[in-house]
Order: sequence, then structure tokens, then C-alpha cells
Amino acid sequence: MAARWEARADLIVVGTGVAGLTAALRARELGLRVLVVTKAAGDDGNTRWAQGGVAVVMEDQHDPGDSVAKHIGDTLTAGAGLCDDAAVAAIITDGPAAVARLRERGAVFDAKPDGLLERTREGGHSAFRVVHAGGDATGAEVERALLKATVDGRVPLLENHIAVDAVKTPLGAVAGLLVLDGNGVPGVLTAPAVLLATGGLGQMYQATSNPSVATGDGLALALRAGALAADVEFIQFHPTVLYTGRGARGRCPLVTEAVRGEGAVLIDATGARVMKGVHPLEDLAPRDVVAAAITRHMATGPGGVDDHVFLDATALHDMATRFPTVFSACNSVGIDPAVDPIPVAPAAHFACGGVVSTVDGRTGVTGLYAVGEVARTGLHGANRLASNSLLEGLVCGTRAAETVAADLAIGLIAPARTAEVSLPTAPVADRDLLQRVMSRYAAIGRDAEGLAVVGSVLDVSTVDKQLESRELVEDAALTMAARALIAAAQQRTESRGCHVRTDFTERSESWQRSQLVRLTPTGQPVLADPVLAEGVA
Ligand code: SIN
Repeated sequence: MAARWEARADLIVVGTGVAGLTAALRARELGLRVLVVTKAAGDDGNTRWAQGGVAVVMEDQHDPGDSVAKHIGDTLTAGAGLCDDAAVAAIITDGPAAVARLRERGAVFDAKPDGLLERTREGGHSAFRVVHAGGDATGAEVERALLKATVDGRVPLLENHIAVDAVKTPLGAVAGLLVLDGNGVPGVLTAPAVLLATGGLGQMYQATSNPSVATGDGLALALRAGALAADVEFIQFHPTVLYTGRGARGRCPLVTEAVRGEGAVLIDATGARVMKGVHPLEDLAPRDVVAAAITRHMATGPGGVDDHVFLDATALHDMATRFPTVFSACNSVGIDPAVDPIPVAPAAHFACGGVVSTVDGRTGVTGLYAVGEVARTGLHGANRLASNSLLEGLVCGTRAAETVAADLAIGLIAPARTAEVSLPTAPVADRDLLQRVMSRYAAIGRDAEGLAVVGSVLDVSTVDKQLESRELVEDAALTMAARALIAAAQQRTESRGCHVRTDFTERSESWQRSQLVRLTPTGQPVLADPVLAEGVA
């Protein structure tokens, strides 16, 4: 089916989370004609669900015990040897200015009576440096402020339109997007620059902290456009989402790590501490360590409970005011955190890898840029440090917009004629089956046999389909992301960060490198030549 309508801009931003809206606003300031497109409503993305906050060290906040260097050090430690040092330094150093710009755009952070911002601590942080809003509703405030600035700034926002495929010039540069409107009618958005800010892919698993839109669409689109991906085997599981019963499906309410940062501890059904003796930081160890420890602990079934543990926050006096989102989620399932330990379990939370991009949003494909969770800048390595992702979106969103403006100014990218486009065909697996096998065999604790099972199940159950609806675009993206993950996870015969192999339990020096994924001409994600990966961290 050929495109039936067309719109033009200088820059098309796909996604309305922190990274996309930050980029759109900055591009607009720089005089670019920007069009923002999202497959759902403007505030339906992952950003508004973020709780803990933004990790940032601001000089004017007067904490002599903390420093940008310490924040960098904590990020590198959490990343388990796979961070890109230069990217980490660039993003964290830019953090204070990015947060200041966000506050100028109207975001209100929690402050003490003296005006200094409140700060909390999360796993892997050596200091209280996470600023927050609405107690535990930081993402909601960030999203509110950025969406309002977008609407006030008259940046056009095309809701309920899903990006299907990149439109390219005969020379292979990206020059627009093929999209489907809310009725499934295809159209083309033409622009010399397309910025993917499509977020993550938590819906690859049965239980996730991510909303239903997190289906890896941007990763799949970028791979089809010829970009490379890296670190896709590292899916971060949040240690504590609210356990609502065996077989929970879809988005599970998050119980922010800041609850542990402010004193709560993990216990099992017998009351024994889960993190005692596991790591020197105990309950505030990096997230991969805590999630893996809970998983191991649950498997032993203490007190006859093998699918959740408990977060004892009964010693915290002000849960209702300090953590109103968590408090109300608990109340909705009959838990009073003041007296009841909160039942919790790990769930898929964040894709540490993604489309290989610089901190300025450049991918290897002319005209295609990526920021936020869909991008792999090297900030997160094998395990993201808590609350570094809103920060990355703020910093890299701004930088990407400035890069697009500079690329336009020097003629590196320019409006171009594109060929006639039609809806692509791609392998599509059944979503429920995919989620079940990924959760069973490719979550925390993987081995060669289980990963092979996922590969075979995906191979036999996948059918080529034309991507003529939002559901099919999403299912094709989840299929491609799962296959990419399996290929990388099978190859990585070690345990590192979020990639925990039960048949290779140790970290291996020889694996201190990222793996690149590319797409074959038949649409199969495969590992790229390791020589190519040498320049990538
Ligand atoms: C949390 O609040 O625990 C989540 C924050 C994050 O994932 O960065």
C-alpha cells in the first residue's frame, strides 16, 4: 500500500518522553521546523512513570561530600566494565546545566524550606544526589513540564501515528518516515533529520515496570535502516515492583529504589534479610546485584514463598507524603506500608543497550539520530546506574537537537527526494508466546539450553507479515529485539551486569567488550564482526 498523505519538517522527533520533547524544544529554539510524532497520546510514554528522580551533582546545592567525579565513578562501577568513559564524563558533566534548563522550562523539584533541593539516594550511589518531584512522581512532573512547554511553544504534535519504517534517499540517507495514522492509513513525513526517542522494550517480558507502548519500535526501525545496535543483551530488571499475585502481566507498579535509599530493607517470608552478606552496600548495592540476589533467594522458597520477597518500610514514618505513588499503589491492593512489609519482585525495567549513537545523537546512518533509552551511548554499560536515564534524556536530547541544527547548517543533511515507499514485511511472532519464553529463559539467569529454546520457539512461530497496523509494527519490533538479544546473550559466555548466565557464572576479562548487532538483508538480526565493535567502547 503506497503512502496516501505527506507532511514536511526539518526534524521529525519520534517519541514524547523526556529525550524527545527536550530535543524538540531545543530544535524549535534553534529555529528548526520540528514535528513530533507518537503512536499514542503525548503523555503515554515511560517518562511519566519514573519515580526516583534525576541523578545530578549541582554545585549550587552545596554538598561538599559529593562531586561530579564521584557520580562518574559510581556510573562506571555500576556499568560493570562496559561503559564508554568519554560518554559517561560528557553526560554527567552536562547534567547540572540540563537540570537547570528543565527547571527554567517549568519543572518543579521538591525543595527544603531554605530553597535547596531535596536529594535522595538509590542503589549504587555513594551520595544523596537524586533530585525528585512530587515525592516519588518525578517522571510525571518532568513529562508535565515538557509537554506544556511543547504545547505553549506551538511545536506540532502528531498523536496516534506510528512510525513504521525509515524513508531513504537513493544514496542511503534517512530522509523521512513512513507512518500509519490512527486508522491505519499510510503517510510520509519528509525531513532531512529523523530523531528516534522511542524509549525501551519492557513489553518483551510478561512483567515489567514499562507501559504498553514500550515495544522496541525505534530499535527495529533503526536496524532496518542500516544502523547498528549494541549491548542489547543487558536488560535491567528493577528489583522491586509491587507483587500483585502469581503470573502478573503487563505494567506492574514500581516501588522506587529510593524507599531503600531512605531505610527500607528487603526481607523474605521468614523475616531474614535478603541482602545481608551479599554485597558491602547491602540493600543499596547496584541494581543488577540486588535483582539477581532476590531471584536466587526466591528460588530457595524461604517460608514457602518462591515468587516474591518483601520490602520492609515499616520504620519509615512518612511514606504517605514522601512516597505518595508507592503508598497509593500499596493501598490499592490492601497493603499499608506503615504496618505491612510490601510484597515485591523483580521485573523488566530498562534496556541498557540500543541503537549505537554518540552523545550527540548521531547513529552511523546519515539523517538518523537517536536519544534516550532507544540509544546506546555507552553511559549505562552492562547495568544502568539508577536515575541516570532522565539525566541522559535531558542532556542528549539537547545535544542531538544542536547537532541536527549544525548538520543542516553545514549541508551534511538536506531536504532530498525519496523513492516511492510501501509498507514493509517483517517476521512477526505471537506476542504472548514471545513474552512467556523470554520471561522463562532470557530474564535474570540464562543458560545455553534455555536461550536455544527461545531461539527455536521464535524460529518456528514467526511468520512474515506486512506491517499494516500498530499491533503488527509492535510485534515485529518485539520479535526483532528478542532475536537480537538471544543472539548476543548466547554468544556472551560470562556473567556481567544485567546479563546473568547460570552456566557461566563469573565475569571474564576476555568479554570486556560490547557486541554489535546488525540486520541481514533478509531481516535477521546477527552479531556484526567483532572488529567493527572495537571502536564502540
Ligand atoms: C526507581 O525509582 O527506583 C527507578 C529509577 C530508575 O530506574 O532510574
